[in-house]
Amino acid sequence: MSFLENVRIISDELDQYLRESASGTPRVVNQLPTQEIIEKLDLKAHLEAGALDGSSLAEFVHNYLDLTVRLHHPGSLAHQVAVPHPAAALAMLVEGITNNPMAIYEMGPAAASIEAFVVDWLVSKVGWTCDSYGAAREPNVPGAGGVLTHGGSLANLTALVAARSQFDDTIWGQGCLGDLALIASADSHYSVTRAAGIMGIGEENVYEWTVDPSRSAICENIGKTLVRIHAEKKRPFALVASACSTATGCYEPLREIAKVCRENGLWLHVDGAHGASALLSAKHRQRLDGVELADSLTWDAHKLLRTPGLCTALLVRDAKALDTAFHQDASYLFHSKRQPGFDSIHRTVECTKAALGLRLLAVLAALGEKGLAEYIERQFELALQTYRLFCGIPGLECPLEPQCNILCFRVAGEDALQLRVRDTLLADGDFHLSTAVVGESRYLRIVITSPETKLTDLRRLAYRVLELSKTCN
Ligand SMILES: Cc1ncc(COP(=O)(O)O)c(C=O)c1O
Repeated sequence: MSFLENVRIISDELDQYLRESASGTPRVVNQLPTQEIIEKLDLKAHLEAGALDGSSLAEFVHNYLDLTVRLHHPGSLAHQVAVPHPAAALAMLVEGITNNPMAIYEMGPAAASIEAFVVDWLVSKVGWTCDSYGAAREPNVPGAGGVLTHGGSLANLTALVAARSQFDDTIWGQGCLGDLALIASADSHYSVTRAAGIMGIGEENVYEWTVDPSRSAICENIGKTLVRIHAEKKRPFALVASACSTATGCYEPLREIAKVCRENGLWLHVDGAHGASALLSAKHRQRLDGVELADSLTWDAHKLLRTPGLCTALLVRDAKALDTAFHQDASYLFHSKRQPGFDSIHRTVECTKAALGLRLLAVLAALGEKGLAEYIERQFELALQTYRLFCGIPGLECPLEPQCNILCFRVAGEDALQLRVRDTLLADGDFHLSTAVVGESRYLRIVITSPETKLTDLRRLAYRVLELSKTCN
């Protein structure tokens, strides 16, 4: 069969998948044992035959889709994964055929230019100056800039490498003596301590400070942490603030934190993997008040910007810091050349890199900035309405008013009960939710990303949870 015929087969299947998922009729999650899935999909036979095409392709895709987690389903509430806009899937088809790894301009000029454009657009949303689509892509030009990476974890690592280079540029060559200290709040994402491990800073040299609900305590708390770090003869170089935290979706007060960082010569990295998208909404951008004072920001498009994974921006207030973060020789790539665009390879851990900007641009071009902002506002508002609803239902408890689309709640009973309730919900297949520890207790956790989820679905979830809490004991 021709390529076009196969595309039609797949697009028919996907169209039906999208409609069925949005209707909420099929199971949202269908977890079978690995071996059973391998057999159901007939993987060994396909490997041997090597002829997946036409009707066998249709059957394969149909079976595959049946075994996916349906993110467009109204009951899909578990994780921070974008519900992808179909326009981005089309962009990924183009990407898959063209396969232009674009960190070297000559290997993908269209993709590289789109990345530069998208990065500059994100930079402008932070409130930083970009030099008319120049600073973000051109090395060693003053101004803000950035790079797209395969995920927030990699962006956090890259930001910390840049911070470390700025602090002490001998470490790249000579290694780390174990005397560096990184500061992060107790709520930061695990990729921060992981980055410290990877970079040889050491997990034990990540000093946690607790975010006090009263903002006035911020300087004091970080100050106490700094005293401890200096007493232990360590050299603090950076602080990571969460905007927002993964478990609860709470934003840390960036303006106050930035002040302390400035006073103490610390690089401020804001991990906005989930929550930076609030910058697109006039209503919610004040959650990140002070972000423009940061040195770097991680922003995942594959969480709240309807973009399929992965697509993260690492943005820096001074692009030069990123330009000097990594040092490598590779005669086949790094050499002087005359070209009409810029390489971004020196700004990332990656060498071959997908055309990540294209997927985000496709969503932007389909929804417009306004459409994306409306989507974010809808999801945040729904989380707030759900909080109010759950607070009014006896037997349910929410520890915190939501600040974005993440809401934690629990049913009266011990921690193990919350886990049993979740297991049963997943086995039922109507709802997919996660859990998180807040304070000392485990809570059920929802992340409202599907545009199909309505308050009625969440009311149904609340009563199902209450019902299960009686039968799961
Ligand atoms: C605050 C925060 N930072 C970083 C990450 C990691 O991002 P990624 O999954 O894109 O690597 C996450 C993921 O949930 C997150 O919530």
